[in-house]
Amino acid sequence: MAAPDLTAELDRLRAAGLYRRRRVQDGPQRPHGRTDGRSLVNFCSNDYLGLANHPEVIAALQQGAARWGVGSGSAHLVNGHSAAHQALEEDLAEFTGRPRALLFSTGYMANLGVIAALSGRGDTVFEDRLNHASLLDGALLARARLRRYPHADAAALERLAQRAAPRLIATDGVFSMDGDLAPLPALAQVARQADAWLLVDDAHGLGVLGREGRGSLDHCGLDAAAVPILMGTLGKAFGTFGAFVAGSEALIETLIQHARPYIYTTATPPALAAATRVSLALARREEWRRERLGTLIGRLRAGAAQLGLSLADSPTPIQPLLAGSAERALAWSAALESAGLLVTAIRPPTVPVGTARLRITLSAAHTDTDLERLLEALAGLPGVRDGPGASLSLSLS
Ligand SMILES: Cc1ncc(COP(=O)(O)O)c(C=O)c1O
Repeated sequence: MAAPDLTAELDRLRAAGLYRRRRVQDGPQRPHGRTDGRSLVNFCSNDYLGLANHPEVIAALQQGAARWGVGSGSAHLVNGHSAAHQALEEDLAEFTGRPRALLFSTGYMANLGVIAALSGRGDTVFEDRLNHASLLDGALLARARLRRYPHADAAALERLAQRAAPRLIATDGVFSMDGDLAPLPALAQVARQADAWLLVDDAHGLGVLGREGRGSLDHCGLDAAAVPILMGTLGKAFGTFGAFVAGSEALIETLIQHARPYIYTTATPPALAAATRVSLALARREEWRRERLGTLIGRLRAGAAQLGLSLADSPTPIQPLLAGSAERALAWSAALESAGLLVTAIRPPTVPVGTARLRITLSAAHTDTDLERLLEALAGLPGVRDGPGASLSLSLS
């Protein structure tokens, strides 16, 4: 049998406007950087608080490397678990108000690990239709029955849960490509009634929402009894790398015994844990970063409304502008780049067909002038006032 023709498939992606390519950053994450050799103002990073390039975090990483070396040497369960990892886990448990936290190498692996450790063949896992790919892939790895409910629709979930008793319900806290919040109190109620686990992936809420940046759950007043499993990432608002799951003693011990993406991988460098402890402390302490973000979000939304642009309805630093087709999203992204702004086009399969978009993200490090430049450039995009918002609500319902 002939090998599959990879080139033909790549050509098909190109023709459909779905081909992806990487841009080369020449320097740290920050609003004013160099991409592919050009100076651009970056409006697509997840470094919401501007901590990825913070001098104290950099110093902690350097000092951590001097103390711990670079590599962790092995998996956590062999001898890769250091006092630096342990201390960060204790900080994260305290921060999230839970008995324990467990570090994973990435958020993708944390979601795979938790879902596959808690469910298996014959179990039903319910997930929001717009959940992050890693939550969906977790159910696939578990070989569980994956059922997707309409976006943010707790009533639909309740009806579905009455028919097929779920073992686990999983949702993004803040949806990664839309910026809106899951209806967490209602989901917690459905989970309680159905006697199911509720897993909230708060990759985009932690650091940004809630008291001291404690995230979506704190923002909604939900405790560990309402949401027993919290997943958080460290490579977004906290500006470093990695992820964690926080929960009960029994949950964390179960993950240590059974979560394959935890067990069968090398622990992240201890110096990174040391750096994350510093960035976590900064994120908690420096309330002005969240206030600045709030100001920028308000100004962007007010400015866009004045210009007649319909941003998706989001209270977070993720402010999507719906283009509809992949081609249009690419054309808009290219036009912004000509104006000196970097906003990557997000296309299917990352988002549903017909809802390609510019995923604009804000950082506390953006200046007022950056925002003015963005608004001015958005206003000049061809067809930007044609009302893609209507097509979004249709296609997501
Ligand atoms: C909602 C959500 N969950 C999980 C992840 C994966 O986290 P990580 O990048 O640490 O693998 C991401 C983004 O990357 C995300 O947006």
